[in-house]
Amino acid sequence: MIGGVARRVSCPVVVGRGAEAAQLRAALERAAGGQPAIVVVAGEAGVGKTRLVHDLVCRVGEVGAVALTGGCLDVGDGVLAYAPLVEALRPLVGLLDPAELERVLGGAGGELARLVPELGPPAGVGGRPAEAPLAPTRLFELLLGVLHRLAERGPVLLVVEDLHWADQSTRDLLGFLVRNLRGGVALVLTYRSDELHRRHPLRPFLAELDRSGRAERLELDRLGRRDLAELLAGILEEPAPPALVGEVLARSEGNPFFAEELLAAHLDGSRLPLALRDLVLARVEALSEPTQRVLEVAAVAGTRVDHELLAAVVGQDAEQLVWLLREAVTRHVLGVDEASGAYVFRHALVQEAVYDDLLPVQRGPLHAAYARALERRIAQRGHAPGAGGATAVEQGQLAYHWYAAHDLGQALLASVKAGQAAEAASALAEALGHYERALSLWDQVPEAAAASPLDRGTLLHRAAETANLAGYDDRAIGLGRLALDRVDPAAEPLRAGALLERLARYHWTAADTPRAMAAVEQAVAIIPRDPPSEELARALAAHAQLLMLLGRHAEARVRGEEAVAVARQVGARAVEGHALTTLGTCLGILGHIEAGIADLEQGLRIARELTAVDDLGRGHANLATVLDHAGRSAEAAEIFLAGAEAVRQHGALGRYGPTHLPDAALALLGLGRRVEAERLLDQVFDLDLRSPGLRGRALTVRGTLRLRTGDLAGAEADLRQVLDEAPGPLDPQNAAPVFGGLAEAALWDGRLADARAAAAEGLEFLAAAEEPYWMSELGRTALRVEAAVAEQARARHADADERAARELAGDLLDRLHAVTGAPGVSPTPTVAANQRTAEAEWSRAAGPSDPERWAGAASAWEALGYPWQAGYARWRQAEALLAQGAPRQDAAAALARAWALADRLGARRLSAEVESLARRARIELPDTAGGGAQEAPAPEEPAVTDELGLTPRELEVLALVADGRTNRQIAQALFISNKTASVHVSNILAKLGVTNRGEAAAVAHRLHLTG
Ligand SMILES: Nc1ncnc2c1ncn2[C@@H]1O[C@H](COP(=O)(O)OP(=O)(O)OP(=O)(O)O)[C@@H](O)[C@H]1O
Ligand SMILES: [Mg+2]
Repeated sequence: MIGGVARRVSCPVVVGRGAEAAQLRAALERAAGGQPAIVVVAGEAGVGKTRLVHDLVCRVGEVGAVALTGGCLDVGDGVLAYAPLVEALRPLVGLLDPAELERVLGGAGGELARLVPELGPPAGVGGRPAEAPLAPTRLFELLLGVLHRLAERGPVLLVVEDLHWADQSTRDLLGFLVRNLRGGVALVLTYRSDELHRRHPLRPFLAELDRSGRAERLELDRLGRRDLAELLAGILEEPAPPALVGEVLARSEGNPFFAEELLAAHLDGSRLPLALRDLVLARVEALSEPTQRVLEVAAVAGTRVDHELLAAVVGQDAEQLVWLLREAVTRHVLGVDEASGAYVFRHALVQEAVYDDLLPVQRGPLHAAYARALERRIAQRGHAPGAGGATAVEQGQLAYHWYAAHDLGQALLASVKAGQAAEAASALAEALGHYERALSLWDQVPEAAAASPLDRGTLLHRAAETANLAGYDDRAIGLGRLALDRVDPAAEPLRAGALLERLARYHWTAADTPRAMAAVEQAVAIIPRDPPSEELARALAAHAQLLMLLGRHAEARVRGEEAVAVARQVGARAVEGHALTTLGTCLGILGHIEAGIADLEQGLRIARELTAVDDLGRGHANLATVLDHAGRSAEAAEIFLAGAEAVRQHGALGRYGPTHLPDAALALLGLGRRVEAERLLDQVFDLDLRSPGLRGRALTVRGTLRLRTGDLAGAEADLRQVLDEAPGPLDPQNAAPVFGGLAEAALWDGRLADARAAAAEGLEFLAAAEEPYWMSELGRTALRVEAAVAEQARARHADADERAARELAGDLLDRLHAVTGAPGVSPTPTVAANQRTAEAEWSRAAGPSDPERWAGAASAWEALGYPWQAGYARWRQAEALLAQGAPRQDAAAALARAWALADRLGARRLSAEVESLARRARIELPDTAGGGAQEAPAPEEPAVTDELGLTPRELEVLALVADGRTNRQIAQALFISNKTASVHVSNILAKLGVTNRGEAAAVAHRLHLTG
């Protein structure tokens, strides 16, 4: 490549084909096991058939198989008979040595060489004339023999691609193989499903295959958003911006080939790459001229059009039109949607290319014709009894066509109506588009604007609201500001206050609490107290809500109660519900669970009664949060999910899904229901997480999951992304899990200074908050950090460091007690369990670690059903028991419980620690049922051990010597006496032939025996 940057055009990894790849692998394994296995892979052009099969071909070595691959060519029938088989057999020459080749060919080398010259000198030299044609049946038998003899050496994978181009001879040969193949050979066939028109010769072949019952089918579908995002990231070598993912998804519809091409075009700044345009148009251009004209008209309608409308605009003889449409359908350019009977372009890019090919002078009149036809249809229906006027979809189409026909006056009016209709139908993103279009036309067509059913201010407000509920943060804020700019606060304080209150909400959803607080404080300041008004109640309620979100619950309660009082005075029931939700949340978070739940349920009842979507969303989330903090995570998960379902019905999943679903996942994860949590997270990442406000929770929860399962780097990346992207400082409840997670990741990684810094930074966020739950969570982690620092300092005899860590631990515990024992706070069972754990960590920091406290903490977690914390506490309990010299069976019992929990959960780091402790203490761990953590203990390196003659125990001691530990410390670490440790050390020195510990350490480092 000259002058440009060579860029990868394909994704280096195969994305999103786990199930399909497994199906193929299973077929190969079946063949290896002695059964025949035939799989037919179908899918449209570019969907990834070759890639999937190629991936299997690359892995055949894993089962000791060989792969032979051939493809049918697009060169017309009969030109190159058996082309794929020729291609597949050619590599045999390189694959086998001559004697083996001879055996596999079974003496048929000469005959086969007529087809595949590489296989040897053609027959004819030794008798039979070379010209005599090889009868097909003879050839088939020969080939079958070759394959079976080849399979005697090991499994064979035979791939024949692109069957839609196969000639009759190849089809016959494959049919024969399918009927006669024995075990040892897996046959994988691929074809393009979109090439098979009704009379395609492959159809009878496939029907025969299905009847034989010997072949299984594999249909490859297009990719979804998550997989496509991964594909783009693979090519770009960094995550693709969400807007780009959205655009490529919309235009490629998840076809990987189109996606690659569109991305490449995007990178060079072109819209539809010429090569792609020619490719998608090739199929259209193969149709008759009149059919192409019909397709042009259809493309103006969009990717789908119903018959009646198309007929009205085409204006052609009905019979003739049907005939033309049939051609487009049989040639797979159009499909028919079974449910509605509408015609649908097989791919959006075909419609796009056909439309782009029209001249602008052709498009305008066609759009106008569609608009008129639609209006006629709506008017006619209007006269019929019971007809309900235009549907939301029709309104939307009208707006689009009038705009594209350049009739801006009609377009404005139609857009406003379309926006209202879409909003009523809960199609919020569409409503937003229509409102924004109307706003953009407003100044250009004053007459139409004057006739609009909504004035400009109202339009801006509706647009901002729909943007917020659909999850478009930036647009909500921009529109909210525009609405506000049109109001003079001195003249209309109520209106300005109301708009400020909304703007505050938009800022908060965009994760910018400081701006939200500023807006709401301004609202409260400018709205007159007297007379009480709905606007006042709303502003007070919003203020209460923000105070709550910042953890200032006492202030929030005062404001919330004021809001309820004013709302009742003026009969603003929606506001009353909103404020009750806030009050209930404050109560719940401070630990007054039942009282909190009562208010929250009342708030939810009102939200349901009035269909207040926003309050339905937050009501569910807050109720679930309170339950979760109270240790009732199973109920919490259900309510988070019920909330997601409730908002989905009103089109607001885009706004709430990104928080409700990860929160449900987190609740399930806490209970050890990891697989369900993972499934939910997959769903979240399928949503359009287009802004940091929408990504924050999803990333935090995925980071937490990765942390628990031991993927520290993945966890850190997710949690750091939350911090890096946040537009403003995080709210306390969002900051705590991020910093807590970062601290814990650093701890497992042995980076104590980083762990300490992360914990301290997180605690800063809680400084001004009354958040007993989060304080107890983060406090527990912070104490764990200090315990680790103190233990390490003790081992190094770094007295000052140890003292500092002990003091810090004491301070942390005091601070934790101050928050959880503050007046008005009632510690929930989860807070209490955290507190017990924190106290146990404190004993570890102060030394000696107290097994009783650890046992207490473990039982508290077990009683609540939180296995991760329970497993951790059991491990520490066992460790403390061993250090104390308690009876071994007690320690063994605790360790066995930790082991079982860690194994079931797939907690890799914890498992490794438990195993290491067991090894050092020579405790046999029981066999587990075999859960997630199947990582075998690090394999010993027998070669080195044998050579040096060190026993496994001596290796352990040597590692500690290399770490600079004294005999006493080695004794402590391995739970043996000082005397035994010193005996081990002298034996090691003797075996290594060195005179002192320093030299032994050097040997150990050289041989990588440390760590
Ligand atoms: N799952 C996937 N992950 C990553 N890249 C993919 C995936 N599937 C397909 N691709 C890429 O998309 C492009 C088209 O894929 P492929 O050639 O396998 O399609 P095909 O179905 O064989 O098409 P055709 O019918 O034209 O042969 C290739 O560049 C391929 O690398
Ligand atoms: Mg292919």
